[in-house]
Amino acid sequence: MTLTRRQWLKGAGTLTAASMLPWPLRASQSELPLIHLQARESTAAWLDTPTPVWSYAQPTLRLRQGVAQRIRVTNHLPEPTTVHWHGLRVANAMDGVSGLTQAPIEPGESFDYEVMSPDAGTFWFHSHHNTIEQLARGLYGALIVSGDNEPDFEQDWPLLIDDWRLTKNGRIDPAFASLHTQAHGGRMGNVLTINHRLGPWQGRARSGDRVRLRLVNSATNRILQLRAEFPSALVLAKDGQPLTSPEPLPDVFILGPGERLDLGWLANETGQLMEVSGRKPLVVARVEVEPGGEAGIPRYPGVMALPVNPMPEVSADVTQTVPLKMEGGAMGRLESARYEGETMAFRELVDQGQVWALSGQVGLPEEPLFRARQGETVALQLDNRTSFPHTLHWHGHHVWADDRWQDSLTVTRGQTKTVRMVAGGPGKWLIHCHMIDHQATGMMTWFEVV
Ligand code: C2O
Ligand code: CU
Repeated sequence: MTLTRRQWLKGAGTLTAASMLPWPLRASQSELPLIHLQARESTAAWLDTPTPVWSYAQPTLRLRQGVAQRIRVTNHLPEPTTVHWHGLRVANAMDGVSGLTQAPIEPGESFDYEVMSPDAGTFWFHSHHNTIEQLARGLYGALIVSGDNEPDFEQDWPLLIDDWRLTKNGRIDPAFASLHTQAHGGRMGNVLTINHRLGPWQGRARSGDRVRLRLVNSATNRILQLRAEFPSALVLAKDGQPLTSPEPLPDVFILGPGERLDLGWLANETGQLMEVSGRKPLVVARVEVEPGGEAGIPRYPGVMALPVNPMPEVSADVTQTVPLKMEGGAMGRLESARYEGETMAFRELVDQGQVWALSGQVGLPEEPLFRARQGETVALQLDNRTSFPHTLHWHGHHVWADDRWQDSLTVTRGQTKTVRMVAGGPGKWLIHCHMIDHQATGMMTWFEVV
């Protein structure tokens, strides 16, 4: 049976959590519209000499909510790759995790992803094979899913913020993995880009314009600390999911790797966004506002509220409570953990190039962290026992945390919090730190929905 999007959305209100999930929805391959996505080598003109990067020929993909789409990824790179649709509740086989949900796409080969997003919002896509290197080389893009009932914005801008580590001669620093750096906050960049261009990004609006800024942290490890100078801007959505009601934007906020924030702003006077985590503050984006927007249209912040997505209902009846304990790293006091079926002392783990553990396991254990039935509500007890913040990311799922849905969540050092999630599509789903240096050195696990 093929449902149209409208039938599906209409039905969504009355269906149970499990049955409202989109997985049975499947059109036959040949009917699906096709987008080509080429992963290839290219150059960026940031400095005096061109910088060789890896990127997608199509840096922004646009989908429609509830409409299935075929995306043919062709690998023109010198090594295998995959593509992960970060935040999209896709079928597990389409999740793009090399070695878990698919075999990598070999050089010269293609793979057809079939994706259908039940949610409208701001997502992104990136390589999920040798991520530590491929993401740092630039393999990511914006993924915008639009819905029929979203309000109009005169300006709608995705801003993918990244920091690149370049050498003096303008090359990407080839030292992608250094265990010392990985045991700390990870490799930090020295060049800031927005949408793969050198910052600051410049936009132009007319006063009275409704502006939507879709912020994405696409850096490998840097937790962005942003200062917003957009008078009376609102937070409309986190990780693609609209807040129940828009909230005032704090003056300073953090955005960990993989996290997104949609801001709504009634343009009044020139505004800017600063990044203040480094030694000197950098301008990320600047929006010039000129007088003369459409006169006579009454504007008030409520006109920007986004319609909520068909998320499952979080039940008070939690079927299991699972500890998700972050341990290890420098100054971390991790004594031992399981790695590849063996219990190893921290020193032995270091010899294996591993320094972080999730719930006593390093890397992908053979058995999942937990198994849950589709529709079950599971509580996760996050407990950061390390000396560093971590941005945890759930594949194919959002967790309910701090009164909002989030697929990526920064947990500061020493912090504990309980979040809940509803098991979605059947399959094997990753949980990992999106600071890729931490993921690559152990901080990842998986769960299974049956
Ligand atoms: Cu954004 Cu496992 O990835
Ligand atoms: Cu981490």
